[in-house]
Amino acid sequence: VLIRIHAVSVNRTDLTYVAGRYGAARPLIIPGEDVAGVVEAVGSEVENVRPGDKVIALLPGGGYAQRVSAHMLSVFPKPTNLSYDEACTIPVVYLTSWISLLRRAELKAGEVALIQAAGSGCGVAGISIAKWAGATVITTAGTDQKVARARELGADHAINYATGDFASEVIRITNGAGVDVCLESVGGDVYNNSVKVLKDGGRLVSVGRSAEQSDASPRGEADPAEVSRRALVVESFALPTAVQTGEARREIAVITELLEQGKLRTVVDQIYPMSRARDAMAYLDGRKNFGKVVLHPWE
Ligand SMILES: NC(=O)c1ccc[n+]([C@@H]2O[C@H](COP(=O)([O-])OP(=O)(O)OC[C@H]3O[C@@H](n4cnc5c(N)ncnc54)[C@H](OP(=O)(O)O)[C@@H]3O)[C@@H](O)[C@H]2O)c1
Repeated sequence: VLIRIHAVSVNRTDLTYVAGRYGAARPLIIPGEDVAGVVEAVGSEVENVRPGDKVIALLPGGGYAQRVSAHMLSVFPKPTNLSYDEACTIPVVYLTSWISLLRRAELKAGEVALIQAAGSGCGVAGISIAKWAGATVITTAGTDQKVARARELGADHAINYATGDFASEVIRITNGAGVDVCLESVGGDVYNNSVKVLKDGGRLVSVGRSAEQSDASPRGEADPAEVSRRALVVESFALPTAVQTGEARREIAVITELLEQGKLRTVVDQIYPMSRARDAMAYLDGRKNFGKVVLHPWE
């Protein structure tokens, strides 16, 4: 499917690729994993979309461009009520947080969810999804402004983890009980302390390690003896695997429907022309974003 791209979102993974930290597997790449645009042409066997359709797509890369060709199974209808800028923020972080919270951790209404890094793409999606699922949401962020924005987004409790010990605050908020589920994307000490604040039998899904990617912080590791003694479930999620198994394709249909119904929300923080892609990536690298950063490839 040939797509004329109207908007592409910046993901933290893009920074890792551009910095050459994903190893030698992809030495030369065009970043950009999620885009929104209009179908310009399709191959002879493509049945799910037609020229003129407004779509979003999940790509293995190549989205920082004016046009991209995508496999038909990676192309989905754009939620009708979302702008291109909003729609391009959906595939990577919504699929990641949705599958992690609801399918891996099986978060249920009435449970307590801890969503780390409220302002991250995964965090914003995670807060919206966990609230929709009927959970009480505790979240963390590195500045008081992000804490305030997390509350506006619907978080029940938001903690500045740069100025205090989030773990003791989580224990205080939950009256000593701890949380049922954690969506963890920071790594290092945040990962270690997230395991500690799980209830016995609690579930943690690690989707990323932003701190470990950017400043070589020590790797967060769950102690196998603690995991076993407290019957914890500690697991990881990788979107490429969910794409390969077809899970991503199944789940995105549900996600886009809920977005159309206004039951889930996305947050676009900044929009940059493609000519300033470097500045857009620096904004993310500087941890300034609350929500997603978007590029316009025709500017
Ligand atoms: N498993 C998957 O398939 C999958 C899919 C998507 C993303 N990811 C991964 O998930 C993580 C989050 O991605 P994203 O795009 O949501 O990130 P993002 O929007 O760039 O947000 C990352 C946030 O992490 C927080 N953080 C805490 N300590 C940090 C540190 N030392 N260095 C940098 N950031 C730090 C910062 O918020 P504060 O300033 O508020 O602390 C930062 O804004 C990344 O590791 C990414 O590679 C994985």
